[in-house]
Amino acid sequence: HIYQDSESASWYVANEIAGLIKQKQEEGKKAVLGLATGSTPTKVYDYLVQFYKEGRLSFKNVVTFNLDEYFPMDPTSIHSYRRFMNEHLFDHIDIEPYNVHIPDGSLSKEEIRKYCMDYEEKIQNVGGIDIQILGIGRTGHIGFNEPGSSLNSKTRLVRLDRVTRLDAASDFFGEENVPKRAITMGVGTIMGAKKIILMAWGEGKSNIIHQAVEGKIKESVPATFLQHHENCDFVLDSAAASNL
Ligand code: GLP
Repeated sequence: HIYQDSESASWYVANEIAGLIKQKQEEGKKAVLGLATGSTPTKVYDYLVQFYKEGRLSFKNVVTFNLDEYFPMDPTSIHSYRRFMNEHLFDHIDIEPYNVHIPDGSLSKEEIRKYCMDYEEKIQNVGGIDIQILGIGRTGHIGFNEPGSSLNSKTRLVRLDRVTRLDAASDFFGEENVPKRAITMGVGTIMGAKKIILMAWGEGKSNIIHQAVEGKIKESVPATFLQHHENCDFVLDSAAASNL
């Protein structure tokens, strides 16, 4: 789906999500969302908050699983994805706190293996993710699945690519402050979602979008694995689509 700008593209995605939530509400079921951080999805979150404030949407039946978190990371830190999600979405809607799941970057290394297995189990226990939204990193990563991640990878502790750490440097006031690792859902976890929506804005993403959509499927560009998914949409602005 190619839109003139990220505003109209985000409007489309927000309405897809709202539509799912309402449909599940009518069926008396939970809507399970896979959520992403980064600058890309922020307008989608703004629209969802707006729908809630206008009384058009409730999140009482919504369960969320975030893709990733830096490690180590204090959840209250200004750099944490937990804080990002609270500020952009959760603090402004009627979601039940126990329905929100974000990988915990404050665990000890020994606790992580079990924690990641439990994260996978929680996703399974609610029937899997209905809609997973994604951004894309310059390395072609989805979540924090960097080049070399396998198609079947699950939630785990990973090492971040140099390019990813460079891209995050300004947020952390210097590359040396960017954590070297992260906890991320795996490519396999993401591929398990019933529907995937990958969003990308701006010319800076046009090369990696070209590779992800039209390139050969390979581990060195994890987003190419999405070509295997039966129900995956790329929602782009015209600049991000300019190399297609
Ligand atoms: C980080 C996140 C990804 C995100 C990427 C792109 O690496 N872990 O989930 O897709 O950044 O960020 P942005 O949306 O700011 O371009």
